[in-house]
Amino acid sequence: MTILVTGGAGFIGANFVYMELKEHPEDRIVCIDKLTYAGNLETLKEAMEYPNFRFKRMDICDREKVFALFEEEKPDIVVNFAAESHVDRSIEDPEIFLKTNILGTQVMMDASRKYGVKRYHQVSTDEVYGDLPLDRPDLFFTEETPLKTSSPYSSSKAGADLLVNAYHRTFGLPTTISRCSNNYGPYQFPEKLIPLMIANALADKPLPVYGEGLNVRDWLYVEDHCKAIDLIIRQGKVGEVYNIGGHNEMKNIDIVKLICEALDKPESLITHVEDRKGHDMRYAIDPAKIHGELGWLPETMFKDGIKKTIQWYLDNKEWWERIISGEYQSYFASMYGERLKDAE
Ligand code: NAD
Ligand code: TYD
Repeated sequence: MTILVTGGAGFIGANFVYMELKEHPEDRIVCIDKLTYAGNLETLKEAMEYPNFRFKRMDICDREKVFALFEEEKPDIVVNFAAESHVDRSIEDPEIFLKTNILGTQVMMDASRKYGVKRYHQVSTDEVYGDLPLDRPDLFFTEETPLKTSSPYSSSKAGADLLVNAYHRTFGLPTTISRCSNNYGPYQFPEKLIPLMIANALADKPLPVYGEGLNVRDWLYVEDHCKAIDLIIRQGKVGEVYNIGGHNEMKNIDIVKLICEALDKPESLITHVEDRKGHDMRYAIDPAKIHGELGWLPETMFKDGIKKTIQWYLDNKEWWERIISGEYQSYFASMYGERLKDAE
């Protein structure tokens, strides 16, 4: 079977590529990624050694190139991770979010229709449901919760989800959608809460907590997310949406304190800064459907996952220090220039 993975040079996509290569050596993985600021080919260095892995630099909005790749590879399954993924950036400049997250999804689905893929899977987010109040811990997002978005990012993801459902109903495209809570783990770009706080704490820099830091996220170790997607693409029901979450709600401030403690850094580094505009208060997933239908349960407890994650950032300083120092862009051009020419 050939699985086409988009956005595989990013955080979750790369973890998914590695899991598939290890768990399903019989499958071929074709990965496309535009290599935006968030995509890092170095992350896929080991994957390049596998004979059943192919990387091609490509924008999912580039209809001509995407169709040519489908013609060549005839993928059985498409898993669309590629997206602009950072809420703060979407507040600064929404346009690229609409382009990549909605129009890019359209291109991938048009190609999937034309070439008759057996499954088109859209990797979505719990943020499409908006937020829950802090004083109602009894409320959770189910697959029936109405879409009610807050940021340009979540709106673009919700737009894509609606389009996926339309392609299923109108054209019969065999789709599935997964909506996952916040992920953490190796290879997360150091603009997101956990890696940013680890990197800043190690450099004794201020730890910028938005507002009071009372916002709650439902954290899931990235491997558990990847396992859920793997189950959905192989055993999930066509036309369905599956929520993925670990019942692990934490306040931002508690996560930052925990990171300080783990790295033996003083909490005085914590600096409360102006709150994010439209900041969602609480996300919390009810994963009963995927548990009941596919038997999925998270395997990594937060206390273990966060230890593993902190250790990974300690062991892989080169990976993220290069990104933070800004050296990454020029490093990337010199290190991968030739390779990219081949990949294009
Ligand atoms: P990321 O920003 O780390 O990676 C995104 C990848 O997509 C990058 O490699 C980037 O180069 C690539 N990309 C961006 N625009 C592209 C384009 N036009 N064409 C091809 N490639 C392009 O993001 P992530 O955290 O790995 O998220 C992956 C997916 O999972 C996204 O769809 C996101 O909405 C979803 N998601 C993320 C989380 C989370 O906590 N990170 C939670 C739920 C869902
Ligand atoms: P983030 O990792 O950007 O994920 P999302 O906004 O998609 O949930 O942020 C997680 C939470 O941490 C969110 O409530 C915003 C907050 N946050 C900070 O307080 N400081 C920061 O520097 C960042 C990046 C996020």
